[in-house]
Amino acid sequence: MGEFINPADVPKVKFYTGDEAPCIGMGTFGSDRFTADQIAEAVDGAIKSGYRMFDCAACYGNEPEIGKVFKNAFDEGIVERKDLFIMTKVWNDMHEHVEEACKKSIADLQCDYVDMYYIHWPFPNYHAPKCDVESRNPDSKPFSVEEFMNTYRQCEKLVEDGLTRFIGISNMTIPKLEAVLPLMKIKPVACELEIHPCFQQQELYDYLVAHDIQPVGYMPIGSPMRPERDMCPEDVADLQTPVMQEIAKAHNCHPAIIALKWARQRGEIAIPFSLHNYVSNLKAMTEDPLTEEEMAKIATLEKGNRLVKGQVFLWHGAKDWHDLWDEDGEIVTL
Ligand SMILES: NC(=O)c1ccc[n+]([C@@H]2O[C@H](COP(=O)([O-])OP(=O)(O)OC[C@H]3O[C@@H](n4cnc5c(N)ncnc54)[C@H](OP(=O)(O)O)[C@@H]3O)[C@@H](O)[C@H]2O)c1
Repeated sequence: MGEFINPADVPKVKFYTGDEAPCIGMGTFGSDRFTADQIAEAVDGAIKSGYRMFDCAACYGNEPEIGKVFKNAFDEGIVERKDLFIMTKVWNDMHEHVEEACKKSIADLQCDYVDMYYIHWPFPNYHAPKCDVESRNPDSKPFSVEEFMNTYRQCEKLVEDGLTRFIGISNMTIPKLEAVLPLMKIKPVACELEIHPCFQQQELYDYLVAHDIQPVGYMPIGSPMRPERDMCPEDVADLQTPVMQEIAKAHNCHPAIIALKWARQRGEIAIPFSLHNYVSNLKAMTEDPLTEEEMAKIATLEKGNRLVKGQVFLWHGAKDWHDLWDEDGEIVTL
């Protein structure tokens, strides 16, 4: 048996509801590079090494394989269902059928209910898995408050029906949040957003914290193995920056570990994907924190380096991917 990190030693974050969750979860998106079985095997190892949170999604195409691992862990008494924090997401083609999508994920994941159910993207624009960056769906449309709230209402019903404990949102912007937050009956507990040292999203991060919505940082390591469609020549490799290298040297570890320590100390939940390094990532949460000076140095690394630009979600008439992110402070509807 490999190394076990006691889940009680892993720091927790507190939601506005008073409930707690671990400061780190395991990502399960294989970036179109790894098979469902490889990822399920890592999930199995992760549970046995002390992970208690998993970030899944219907569109990652591996929930049935991960579900077998969960079931096995429950049957063998390795964990009880209540000890895991299982998150999954409705994909864009199911925005009008949220209950059906959630029930399918619950059945695939063999978990009775989910802890957090996210709206993966705030619009129903669909792209086929493994598509390339030029791929466009002629049915794609700009964000609509009405459409989003129709999907969100269905998520509120999931909470009322006990299918999920909490609602999450993902890939949002401040203008979109301003438009929809006042319309919600049940406030989301968390928001997934891309965060890594060269893309810190400080303004959105602060907005979420001010509204008691927990930031959940995806691609916390800068996703060096992300899909081809998300690779651009101008992208910066976070871990190669001299600051990250120097701090890693001081702590005698890989710069990926430094990125995760920074995420935790900033207050987010990080959800790193890993087939090979997940034990050290979990362990890093329990020891050897960064100094205030190191935290301040990493804060200077912001380069506006968004990796998931979202080109494949663009609608006819959109200028370019910047339109997805409301960068001028207003929802882009043209
Ligand atoms: N809401 C959304 O729209 C959205 C979008 C993207 C991603 N996500 C979620 O966020 C998760 C994480 O994002 P990601 O998978 O793209 O990227 P990531 O977690 O930033 O990077 C994963 C890569 O980092 C490597 N790595 C991990 N720990 C390491 C360590 N200690 N030392 C060296 N290398 C290390 C892994 O390699 P090894 O496998 O070799 O360890 C893997 O190639 C996804 O899996 C998914 O759950 C959500």
